[in-house]
Amino acid sequence: MIRGKFITFEGGEGAGKTTQAELLAEALEKAGIETLQTREPGGTFGAEAIRDLVLTGTSDRWSGMTELLLMYAARIDHVEKLIKPALDRGVWVISDRFADSSLAYQGHARGLGADRVKAVHEAVMGGFEPDITILFDMDPVLAQKRVETRGENLTRFDAEDLNFHKALRDAFRQIAAENPDRIHTVDADGTRGNVQNRILFALTKQFPELAGKVGA
Ligand code: TYD
Repeated sequence: MIRGKFITFEGGEGAGKTTQAELLAEALEKAGIETLQTREPGGTFGAEAIRDLVLTGTSDRWSGMTELLLMYAARIDHVEKLIKPALDRGVWVISDRFADSSLAYQGHARGLGADRVKAVHEAVMGGFEPDITILFDMDPVLAQKRVETRGENLTRFDAEDLNFHKALRDAFRQIAAENPDRIHTVDADGTRGNVQNRILFALTKQFPELAGKVGA
């Protein structure tokens, strides 16, 4: 059995990752590839319980380090119970956020420092990494407007101010620059179809076996 590919979507809030994850899953299924869509924090029963803890309440409810450890407690459950078994069955897994979010949010924006986050990552995950990461890059002012008009309950993170969103964007761009073989940055400002084409283009570049199969 050929192992499936692990695809992660990253970026700030309001960039349209969730919609695009659905569109990508559809495109891959049409090409005969079995897919699984999941998200972080969450994805398994236990990790979804941790998600409730970490995303609700006031923004000072948890320190940066507690947040980080909760994210990794959720992540290891998710990886061991859902992601790795699916990949072993040949399924392609699309996760809305993964470890780069911890580096950007807890490491940079919350100020824990990249080194501490990377040390926790190494201790918990070893060398487990996505096969490709799509970074949804967007002007933070536009992103904040989208979040405000989405009409959903804001999470502890959505409630942060514009400077937080700007710091996040810089952090994600820096992480992308450090991982050019894995992270493809996509302009998230555009119609659904535009953005989807950009994602399929990046995927086909990373996995040449997709050429001619997914409309890119
Ligand atoms: P969610 O509503 O799923 O956000 P979005 O739709 O923007 O993806 O909430 C997830 C929040 O958790 C988001 O604000 C980012 C944050 N987060 C971290 O701070 N660290 C992490 O490791 C992960 C996975 C998420």
